[in-house]
Amino acid sequence: MRMRTEQGEGQVPGTDAAPGVRVDVYVKPGDAQRALREEVLQGLCQPAPKELSPKWLYDERGSQLFDDITRLPEYYPTRREREILHAHADDIARLSGADTLVELGSGTSEKTRLLLDAMDAAGQLKRFVPFDVSEAFLRKAADGLAHEYPRIAVHAVVGDFEHHLGRIPRVGRRLIAFLGGTIGNLKPAQRALFLRELSSGLRPGDGLLLGTDLIKDRERLFAAYNDSAGVTADFNRNVLRVLNRELNADFDPEAFEHLAPFDETHAWIEMRLISRKAQSVWLGDLERRVDFAQGECLRTEVSCKFCREQVQTELRDAGLDLSAWWTDSDGDFALSLAMKR
Ligand code: AVJ
Repeated sequence: MRMRTEQGEGQVPGTDAAPGVRVDVYVKPGDAQRALREEVLQGLCQPAPKELSPKWLYDERGSQLFDDITRLPEYYPTRREREILHAHADDIARLSGADTLVELGSGTSEKTRLLLDAMDAAGQLKRFVPFDVSEAFLRKAADGLAHEYPRIAVHAVVGDFEHHLGRIPRVGRRLIAFLGGTIGNLKPAQRALFLRELSSGLRPGDGLLLGTDLIKDRERLFAAYNDSAGVTADFNRNVLRVLNRELNADFDPEAFEHLAPFDETHAWIEMRLISRKAQSVWLGDLERRVDFAQGECLRTEVSCKFCREQVQTELRDAGLDLSAWWTDSDGDFALSLAMKR
């Protein structure tokens, strides 16, 4: 596969990566557009329950809305995970023994800094590898961190989880951080594939730091995804604005109601958009019409909830042995450290 690589030393004219920053780009322009079209043909245009994957929620507005969600009183996962990281970053650095931090979906640099600082304090830190699908976002994050940590190398990888996990550079002793509970967006079969794929690129002694939301009483779970201010509803409907823009569709977002119930059987929250009336939507670029019956659901996300046993088993099946499990003081959220066998 073709790839663009830029060294920070000004090797590539007209680019502005900071010194010590390297950016490998595996996602080509138009990849996302093509993937979206395929998914819409599969997930909306077939006579089956309608479904789209949650990745389409995160355009610029959607990312901002998610950021707003993390500050809602009802949405506990972000605060809980931060609490655990504050309490145990030193343990994580010591137990992992890693000199290279790889962050998947390198989200908030606040969590990143906690880990980098702990690894630095342990005298281990050599390298940071942020991995994300958004090139613009990644460049900003990479440059910022390179300035803050001038002694380490920053090697950013622009890729997606489905195709490019194998591109994570095989240097040093690595700790892969996959935080926020994002693994919960994958259904069990996809999760097993993902973990196996990730694990197959690791060497004995490499580690995985995994954030998972935990099963708890349904009222609190429900409240976290059906907040009273309606931010999650707005976030959910945002996918319709994305479809309008990217596919020249004519969804009326307000013609859909947000609901995110907890499914006990699967132990997941699922976000739904429910059609308030019988309606037809035109997907301009696909030259297709999509019909919704009144009350018909479009599923836009699952967010799986876990218990320790489940996490441990899934990790073990992927060749990763759980070596530490931390939760916040209320047992809402967990961080697992697992080492490659
Ligand atoms: C970013 C996938 C962890 O599942 O809690 C928040 C996304 N969806 N509110 C989650 C989300 C609705 C979030 N993750």
